[in-house]
Amino acid sequence: MKQFISVKDVTDINALAAKALAYKSNPLVDSKLGENKRIGLLFLNPSLRTRLSTQIAARNLGMEAIVFNVDKEGWALEFEEGAIMSGNTVEHIKDAGPILGQYFDILCIRTFPSLKNREDDYSEMFINQFIKYAGVPVVSLESATLHPLQSLTDIVTIKESIQNSPLGAGSKPKIVLTWAPHIKPLPQCVANSFAQWINAWGEADFVITHPQDYELAEEFTKGATITHNQDEALKDADFVYVKNWSTYTDYGKVYENDPEWMLTEEKLKTTHNAKVMHCLPVRRNVELSDEVLDSSHSLVTRQAGNRVWAAQAVLSEILNF
Ligand code: CP
Repeated sequence: MKQFISVKDVTDINALAAKALAYKSNPLVDSKLGENKRIGLLFLNPSLRTRLSTQIAARNLGMEAIVFNVDKEGWALEFEEGAIMSGNTVEHIKDAGPILGQYFDILCIRTFPSLKNREDDYSEMFINQFIKYAGVPVVSLESATLHPLQSLTDIVTIKESIQNSPLGAGSKPKIVLTWAPHIKPLPQCVANSFAQWINAWGEADFVITHPQDYELAEEFTKGATITHNQDEALKDADFVYVKNWSTYTDYGKVYENDPEWMLTEEKLKTTHNAKVMHCLPVRRNVELSDEVLDSSHSLVTRQAGNRVWAAQAVLSEILNF
């Protein structure tokens, strides 16, 4: 694998997920693979899970990991080609990128969308400029529109859960992605990415449910059944993935905050004793109720733990390229 920006960089999702689960069983089996290699983790936005799990994954492969909080500790970067830098930006990515490429063997970037201009966000300029100028493999730690390490983890967690359930390996689960209320406009990244990966995986009956006006980009959702009726969507579900996102068409808005969309134990009664997933962080009793998060339905802690093994599988593929 020469980079990891989206599911399009993966040739075999099942093989990559199997590799992640193999690392879970034997974390240090490839502890020499990344010896004398250095990985840079650049954060333009906050993180708990992505930052720590990727550091641990790199360490398990013998790499040195250096974290740089660009937003707080670095020079303000300019990404526009030909910019007249008379404003707040201090250093152009054209200058910083090749230097980072000399310092690191793999460069990982987290950068969120502005949620102000859809065309700008969906052009993925920030991560594409790092790819263009760094000259080393780039891994997305979440970009303006996608969160591939999260989505790989989600598939790893679903496969692991199926193996240990009455459904059994080889069965086709019903997976529901449901919108949840939130007080702030959030990116569409996790939902876009989850839809893109589940569609590409092709081993699920996949349903997306959200209020009117919360349609996601068709390039990611195409292939899924989409409904505004959450109760109907939840019927017979095996997995329910809960996530808020802001509007896509009239971009970055909060139109709706109806608490009726929050998943409860009552709503889960029509499912196949569904497992509930969320990428975290989660606003308790806004996005998801305590009763669900603290119940045996919840996979969220296992899911977050699996971030290590997904990141390790991806870094291993890049080191082996
Ligand atoms: N799910 C996720 O990416 O968590 P962090 O934002 O804490 O990294």
